[in-house]
Amino acid sequence: MGFFTKILKSKSKSVIGIDMGSSVLKIVQVKKVKGSAVLETYGALKLGSYAKKELGRSVNLTKDASVRALNVLREAINSDASIAGFSIPFRSSFIYLIDVPAVSDQKLAQIIPFEVRKYISIPIEEISLDWSVVSDVIVDDQSTSSGYGDTELEKPNKRKVLFVATHNKEIKKYKEIAKESKVDTKFFESETSSTWRSITSVNRTPVLIVDIGANSTKFYVMEHGVILRSLTIKQGGETVTEIIAYEKNISFEKAEQMKMELGLGIESDETVKAIKNVLIEIFTEANYVISNFETKYKKTISNTIFTGGGSTMKGLVSMSREYIRTQTELADPFSSLKHPLAMSSSLRESGAEFTVAIGIALRLLEY
Ligand SMILES: Nc1ncnc2c1ncn2[C@@H]1O[C@H](COP(=O)(O)OP(=O)(O)OP(=O)(O)O)[C@@H](O)[C@H]1O
Ligand SMILES: [Mg+2]
Repeated sequence: MGFFTKILKSKSKSVIGIDMGSSVLKIVQVKKVKGSAVLETYGALKLGSYAKKELGRSVNLTKDASVRALNVLREAINSDASIAGFSIPFRSSFIYLIDVPAVSDQKLAQIIPFEVRKYISIPIEEISLDWSVVSDVIVDDQSTSSGYGDTELEKPNKRKVLFVATHNKEIKKYKEIAKESKVDTKFFESETSSTWRSITSVNRTPVLIVDIGANSTKFYVMEHGVILRSLTIKQGGETVTEIIAYEKNISFEKAEQMKMELGLGIESDETVKAIKNVLIEIFTEANYVISNFETKYKKTISNTIFTGGGSTMKGLVSMSREYIRTQTELADPFSSLKHPLAMSSSLRESGAEFTVAIGIALRLLEY
């Protein structure tokens, strides 16, 4: 799969957000023009054949195969930018929200490595650490209010810090891919941070984000860019394709094609029922995460945002409204990029596949 949408030529630097998912590679190239982020080109490439598997399968690619796929896609969409950022899968990072003593930022930098040791057993030399102090709103709401009323004595004696630890081995793999693909990589970040940046213009916090990928669905409740609850299940777009292949006795690739074209509009009541059973499982987990969060944090989630290729299946989001007890919507990450009006409706329908890549590209524009 590949698109070519060259839109503008001007002098500022073009950048590319690269999201190497387990089944599909996504790239979005943008540049800043008169202060606005402008879409230049974008595309997606199914990775199955790069590991001798069917298109639509999730795969674990070798470094060489990843480099090849990246080069093929960049060429197919005529992407000429070399400043890049990569996403790191959620599963490869440990993300914690921790309480630390209320000390200055400078002191914090010194104590964080010691605090982190309390939470992870991997030797500190083997991980890359990224951390940020979470807004005081959360500090006040959670556990540190003194309870003495609205006086100046009410200073939090703790600060909340979000830290992301990624195994160096995982980052090394991406660094090598980047080097061989001759891109100048500015950062590697957890896909959850990229997602947040992409959807932040439309969310009302806290929100539940449901990322339906190929072999898994990731659920995370986020507020102020922080993950407060998360869950991953082993059902995703690939499960749906397998069910269609089984019900209709056709090949996986044929079923994949049929799913992408028709979604829940596919023929035969039995097949639709079987697909709906998978979706109901996903929606049930969503409700579970919502309840779990609301009980613990005494806050209400009013929105669930679907993202990832699997969530663009025809009929999925409208079906979710019957099951999920918050409002639900499909992420529309292209809305934060300038693009021709004529493309708006198709980008709204299928753009949720590119949420992570767009989030990375937006951060690159700040460099
Ligand atoms: N129009 C569509 N209708 C139905 N399913 C679709 C559509 N477009 C993409 N998908 C499905 O989305 C899934 C891939 O989504 P995505 O690209 O978000 O996954 P990924 O990033 O590779 O996976 P992960 O995030 O789990 O590593 C595939 O199962 C694919 O069949
Ligand atoms: Mg993904």
